Amino acid sequence: MSTASQATAPPPATRTATSADGATGEAAPAVALRARAVTRTYGTGAGTVTALDAVDLDIARGAFTAIMGASGSGKSTLLHVLAGLDEVDSGSIELEGTEITTLRDDPLTRLRRERIGFVVQSFNLLPMLTAEQNILLPLELAGTRVDRAWLDTLATAFGIADRLDHLPSQLSGGQIQRVAIARALVTSPAVVFADEPTGNLDSRTTEEVLDFLRLSVDEFGQTVVMVTHERDAAERADRILTLADGQIAGDEDLRALRARRAQPAERDQHAQQPTQAPLAGQEPR
Ligand SMILES: Nc1ncnc2c1ncn2[C@@H]1O[C@H](COP(=O)(O)OP(=O)(O)O)[C@@H](O)[C@H]1O
Ligand SMILES: [Mg+2]
Repeated sequence: MSTASQATAPPPATRTATSADGATGEAAPAVALRARAVTRTYGTGAGTVTALDAVDLDIARGAFTAIMGASGSGKSTLLHVLAGLDEVDSGSIELEGTEITTLRDDPLTRLRRERIGFVVQSFNLLPMLTAEQNILLPLELAGTRVDRAWLDTLATAFGIADRLDHLPSQLSGGQIQRVAIARALVTSPAVVFADEPTGNLDSRTTEEVLDFLRLSVDEFGQTVVMVTHERDAAERADRILTLADGQIAGDEDLRALRARRAQPAERDQHAQQPTQAPLAGQEPR
């Protein structure tokens, strides 16, 4: 990877700066993940189950995508194949332009370590490591230099800066989840995946986890893909994909929806403030 060693805060290496509210203008590809005709079956003969049936999908960079669907519809299988954790029968999956379905073991392992982050339901931190050591573990495994400034930025954003030398047993449940999310972000992966991250949590902790996934996207331009069966949780995302029988049965753009809902109100505001007009050339579009 890059040998650059800037001392400044933002995420290192491949991601060029994405400003706070997701304002665009970066040169990096707009699509983080591209799947084409991805099929995955289990078993053989009469017992064959088609978990994914010719799925086509583009996941935009810096977007928060939720995947919903009934139990058995293929959500986990989709997440696993997109993350290079499971093989496909046929089809293509590109992660930031790299075809991953044909990668050999070593480059695939490296790609998973460096370009993919995972938040698992159990948020499993290693009990004998401090919060900081847990967060840095993916870098350790990848043999990547620790960017102190990036660690500090993450720890501050997640409100755990004063907990870094604590063991998991000395942290609250909420802090453990924040450490786990920070750990998924520390390598500045192309995509962070979360499989039902709020599945076992009470409603307050659920909100907190969603807040921090949202923050990862809004503050750091992180691409996040989250499986959930809860509509409320999915609605915190920018887009909701719904799976049914291994196919994409629904695709809702919540950002466009929110923008459309916001528009009438904005028009009213402008109508009430006609005196704004003379501010030459500054009119927002
Ligand atoms: N390892 C496996 N062996 C056999 N069948 C599997 C396996 N994993 C998943 N399946 C089947 O594939 C389908 C999709 O499963 P999954 O992706 O886990 O769905 P979801 O996460 O939406 O509940 C289901 O019918 C499931 O039973
Ligand atoms: Mg599942």
